[in-house]
Amino acid sequence: MALLFDSLLVDATVALISLITLLYFYFEHKFTYWKKRGVPFLKPLPIVGNFKDVLLQWRSPSHFFEDIYNEGRGKPLLGFYIFGRPSLLVRDPAIIKNVLIKDFNIFFDRHIECDAKTDPLGHLNLFVIKGQPWKHIRSKLTPIFTSGKMRNMFPLIVNCTVNLKDYLKGLSESSKSPVEVKETMSKFTTDVISSCAYGIEANSMKDPDAEFRHFGRNAFTFSFFRTFEMMVMFFFPSFVKLGKFKFFSNATTGFLRKIFWDVILTREMNYVKSNDLINLLIQLKNKGSIEDDSNDLKADDKIMEAKTKNNEFTGDTLVAQAAVFFTAGFETTATTLSFCLYDLALSPDIQTRLRQEILDVMSKNEEITYDIVQGMKYLDMVVSETLRKYTPFAFLERVCSKDYLEPVTGTVIEKGTTVYISLHGLHKDPEYFPEPERFDPERFSEDNKRSITPFTYLPFGEGPHNCIGSRFGLMSVKCCLTHILAEYEVSKCPETPFPLEYSNKSIVLASSGGIPLKFKRVVAP
Ligand code: HEM
Repeated sequence: MALLFDSLLVDATVALISLITLLYFYFEHKFTYWKKRGVPFLKPLPIVGNFKDVLLQWRSPSHFFEDIYNEGRGKPLLGFYIFGRPSLLVRDPAIIKNVLIKDFNIFFDRHIECDAKTDPLGHLNLFVIKGQPWKHIRSKLTPIFTSGKMRNMFPLIVNCTVNLKDYLKGLSESSKSPVEVKETMSKFTTDVISSCAYGIEANSMKDPDAEFRHFGRNAFTFSFFRTFEMMVMFFFPSFVKLGKFKFFSNATTGFLRKIFWDVILTREMNYVKSNDLINLLIQLKNKGSIEDDSNDLKADDKIMEAKTKNNEFTGDTLVAQAAVFFTAGFETTATTLSFCLYDLALSPDIQTRLRQEILDVMSKNEEITYDIVQGMKYLDMVVSETLRKYTPFAFLERVCSKDYLEPVTGTVIEKGTTVYISLHGLHKDPEYFPEPERFDPERFSEDNKRSITPFTYLPFGEGPHNCIGSRFGLMSVKCCLTHILAEYEVSKCPETPFPLEYSNKSIVLASSGGIPLKFKRVVAP
């Protein structure tokens, strides 16, 4: 039965046109926000604002923020719209410092959200959890990543490099085809995290169906739906519950919970102690804190820990931290390794110089230890340059928790506004890094790195919310490069893509295809 006109079809068409018109004017009203405040902004499209390219999965979020950064050349701040939501990109290093450090008490939380009921490991982990609970968990976990603890864990990573070298040896002997480094490095870092964070040999190198690799691959395979799911969690958190979107699927949650408690039970029954992360999480469960064995902790960390001593640390709160170590750790580290090997293959001179440093160190020491790797200056320069050119996780976000008078520009940033920082934008800005597409480790030599403008190089973020696993990530990358390059020369082959094309979907930087490289054995083991 038609309501207004003779035909139902005409009724429906009129209703639809009216709805679109209403939406159009509603959003046009929203789009006056930055203009009214005198803040420079990007011209929005009807309804979607500036978000079209991410919505259609034409640009990854990291590249989207890089585009905005580049559009805002010369401006300290740039307003834009995610549908009707006014958002702000901060470009100026002085403002970045205020947001991340000086006024952290105002820019305290991230915008990302996971549902407490349907995705407890997503909700409770350090990356996502908010407010005082974040502060409490962060203070408890900080002592896990001191250099003393890293030194103890280093042999576990060396063990994983032995499996990696066996794998490469098998490949180079059995076939002449190139090695797909992205997949190989993901297997290696999966083994590293599962052995250090869960005390389990995941065996991804030998078993292509290894469970840890299977669940890791699921989390970071960006199908249309998975990309959409991540987009909702990062940019439209209020729809997470409604759409039952999850960072950890039910299967992954079940797997991680079971593995975690099985390991804890076995260890407690057999009084096993080990130098891994799970041993430290057990300490946290039983004693409420982790022994501090070093002077790495800043005074602030210690005060924060003391203030939060009485809160308990149990159940999914514990599992969620092991879960985030796995997801935040393996993909970012594998990305760093694979892009580093890619540019070393394209720059044989840099590779030769790095190998020389490694062989010199090996000739003087029987065993490669954490401290020896830490002391390798050129290795550090190469890894720093990789993290600049191929920043794995390239945007930072903070929500403004109360109206804030931004002191550099005099702009009032209203409560609830999400502020973003583009790491690709900063790291590829020729004003800070001339010829940004050139892979040049010299930028990070002792002399040159002193002249880098503060707050323009932030591969691990900054301030109290910065990457808690940066030491662990760097140690894994450096340990792996040292062991591979001592024995193998890496070079490009006809299948190696040049220039690289990047995935439009992945949250962590990824090439759109694989990265095949040739590995040739140069030194007898
Ligand atoms: C090369 C490797 C890595 C890179 C480039 C990287 C990068 C980042 C970045 C950019 C952030 C956001 C920081 C901010 O908002 O200021 C972050 C946060 C985080 N990362 Fe990493 N990460 C790496 C490895 C790891 C590893 C190995 C772990 C764990 C074992 C880890 C655990 C975390 C956690 C838990 C957070 C959230 C910290 C908080 O909000 O308190 N990351 N990481």
